Amino acid sequence: MNLKKRAIFDYGNNFYGPVVLSPTTLANIAVSGKIWQELLAFHSLLASDEYVEYLDAYYRECLQRFGQQWHYMDITNVLYAASKTLQPYNYLEIGVRRGRSVCTVVRGCPSVNIVAFDMWIPNYAGMENPGPEFVQSEIIKHGHSGAITFINGDSHETVPEYLSKNPDILFDLITVDGDHSKEGALEDLFNVIPRLSMGGVLVFDDISHPDLPHLIEVWHEALYEFRYLSGYEYTEMGYGIAFAIRRY
Ligand SMILES: C[S@@+](CC[C@H](N)C(=O)[O-])C[C@H]1O[C@@H](n2cnc3c(N)ncnc32)[C@H](O)[C@@H]1O
Repeated sequence: MNLKKRAIFDYGNNFYGPVVLSPTTLANIAVSGKIWQELLAFHSLLASDEYVEYLDAYYRECLQRFGQQWHYMDITNVLYAASKTLQPYNYLEIGVRRGRSVCTVVRGCPSVNIVAFDMWIPNYAGMENPGPEFVQSEIIKHGHSGAITFINGDSHETVPEYLSKNPDILFDLITVDGDHSKEGALEDLFNVIPRLSMGGVLVFDDISHPDLPHLIEVWHEALYEFRYLSGYEYTEMGYGIAFAIRRY
């Protein structure tokens, strides 16, 4: 079922507006046993590094201990739930690294068309950051059948340039997980939010990372500026995750 069918309810006089997918609904899907079962079936096949290995063990241990009562969110279950639910036509990602997030989106919707922005900072967070050829081979391993365009370079230049060359393109799903500085993250969000389609989902990572206390303020500023976004935050555990749905 496509985005129009899943997120939008077109009933003539739409008193509440056309979008019926709420952030809490998406959160409930993301934490469901079904999503974890499906996610864990491929999680260990994602390009691994020390952090992904840790997460794999963390997820499995928490599920074993707490079963259906486990309530936890990060970029992986949120993106997988969003991708499965929306079946996005176009996905934009700023901050790709080794393809963990983009492959998760592909697992949820193999036909998705991807525009991927990264400047491939060497040794990012102390781990290898091999570049587009590596990510290309990863998404194929995960069954991608849509198109992918890599835009290499600083997102503060490449994103505005790409969007001005593609004035009509909209994205059903967007992840902002590149520059984590206050000004940089805000600029990335402000650049891409106007291109989120109605009923589309915007994902913003690391809002409670102990080294990045400014990111939660950045997120709030974006929600304040773009009133058509309905936001959700998870900060209880891990590094936190925020997402929002465009309501109108
Ligand atoms: C946190 S990692 C992305 C992780 C990925 N989303 C995942 O879940 O596996 C951040 C990435 O953003 C890239 N990056 C940082 N600043 C950037 C900028 N100004 N423009 C483009 N890419 C940037 C880095 O090279 C790195 O690969």
